[in-house]
Amino acid sequence: MNGIIVAIDGPAASGKSTTARRVAQRLDYCHLNSGLLYRTIAWLGLRDDWIHDSDRFAYELERIRITMERRSPGFIVRANGEIPGDELTAPQTAIRASHVAARLDVRERVLEVLRAAGLNGGIACDGRDIGTVVFPDAALKIFLVASVEERARRRVADHGVEPDRERLELEISRLRERDARDSARDLAPLLRAPEAIEIDTTRLTPDEVVDEIVGLAVERGA
Ligand code: CDP
Repeated sequence: MNGIIVAIDGPAASGKSTTARRVAQRLDYCHLNSGLLYRTIAWLGLRDDWIHDSDRFAYELERIRITMERRSPGFIVRANGEIPGDELTAPQTAIRASHVAARLDVRERVLEVLRAAGLNGGIACDGRDIGTVVFPDAALKIFLVASVEERARRRVADHGVEPDRERLELEISRLRERDARDSARDLAPLLRAPEAIEIDTTRLTPDEVVDEIVGLAVERGA
């Protein structure tokens, strides 16, 4: 192993991905974004129009070649040789991703890709089931939470649009819907591992969150 595994889980828009990327940069590790894989599968299925047909979905999924190349500060994901673009961050892709993430075949496939990418350690990996299912032996497990209002504000800001009341309400209902689906599913639901350290980021700056996690990671051998 070249470094420990830092597992960062939490609900949608709780800051996992930004935090994991910055933690990885500080430790000279790589950021492994598991949501990107669910988004990539959803994006391909939407674009090539097999997402709504369960049998065809299973057939196509088996044929997708997913590769992850370690390239500091992250990994380059390719699906059938293609690098997905900005479509991955669209709200519709996130909603479809949370639907496909409830399928067993999808979860098995993503698990395999993530474990291969994390084989030598030295990663900060974020998602919903990283500390519970993907890397249950991770040396450090973090569970990030924030109020749904704050998460909606951050997501709207990410999309670069005016945070008026209507937009915030729409985002709050999207986040609630996705959190409910991610928490209620039978397979690898969003769950805090008992040994995970919970950090409420509602009133913290990104720097404060990153400093705390880096400090803990160093204590645990990073
Ligand atoms: O950034 P955000 O939290 O909005 O989403 P994401 O981490 O990119 O994940 C998109 C969707 O993929 C989530 O709503 C989950 O349904 C699914 N996902 C999952 O099931 N397990 C993971 N480890 C990561 C994502």
